[in-house]
Amino acid sequence: MIKKEIKIFSPATVANVSCGYDVLGFCLDTIGDEMTIRKTDKKGIVITKIEGYDLPFETIKNVAGVSALALYDDAKPDYGFEIEIFKKIKPGSGIGSSSASASGSVFAMNELLGRPYNKTQLTNFAMKGEALASGCEHADNIAPGIFGGFTLVKSISPLQILQLPTPPDLYATIIHPQIEIKTSEARSILPKEISLKNAITQWANVGSLVHALHTSDYELIRRSLEDVIVEPFRSQLIPYFANVKKMALNSGALGCGISGSGPSIFALSKGIETAKEVESAMKAVYSQTEIGFHTYVSKINVEGMKIIQK
Ligand code: HSE
Repeated sequence: MIKKEIKIFSPATVANVSCGYDVLGFCLDTIGDEMTIRKTDKKGIVITKIEGYDLPFETIKNVAGVSALALYDDAKPDYGFEIEIFKKIKPGSGIGSSSASASGSVFAMNELLGRPYNKTQLTNFAMKGEALASGCEHADNIAPGIFGGFTLVKSISPLQILQLPTPPDLYATIIHPQIEIKTSEARSILPKEISLKNAITQWANVGSLVHALHTSDYELIRRSLEDVIVEPFRSQLIPYFANVKKMALNSGALGCGISGSGPSIFALSKGIETAKEVESAMKAVYSQTEIGFHTYVSKINVEGMKIIQK
């Protein structure tokens, strides 16, 4: 059999987007993993290379392996796949590291199989891998990676993903302080019940953010990026969060919040100049501390996954 392989870019993503815990997300451009997936004569899924971070090679213990197996068991091809992972997104960073692995393998396999599955089906397979990492199936990092741009997870069962439009001048700034927060822990500290008052504020913000994305209304984006439910609890896990947020907003960001379950912090800005000023302001906060950090400025990636080589 002639071997066939594909190399892909699986982007980092920002989940929640302040007001949309577990439902909203958007896709980044300048940071992501690379993966090579190769057809093999031998049946099954084997992970043959992992570079960047120390992650398990055993297929059932690796998120990319688990999602790949979910698709493989459904497709039942008469050949197998080898997976090589070039991990660039640090696990536990809050910008969708596990989701990039889980989504990358199924996206690439679908290409090699001749695209039998649609994006919603791929999201479903990838959620199996994501569940291994976070302890529950949620799609708010996976969907923006697979669909691109902004997405809203309308429901998990049945899985329904809505693609939202991306205003053309919207840029993200990310600062990743080098501390680790486990998603499972960041979920366990959240209250099981919330007040009606907070619920009203939050669903008004989600609705107005969706409207603002549809109408490219940057001022409404500014007024919608507020989280009265999750951020008050999780921000306590991120040293200097309040300072970073204040500095980002003072530098012109439309909004600033926790990226996914943290510790990364994201800001959205109109125009790349403002996004870069926000980056400098965020850096200035952590530069005065002992905590190391990385920053990224990225246009919203409306394409999502990219094929690097086929
Ligand atoms: N919505 C998820 C959370 C994203 O905030 O826990 C992190 O995987």
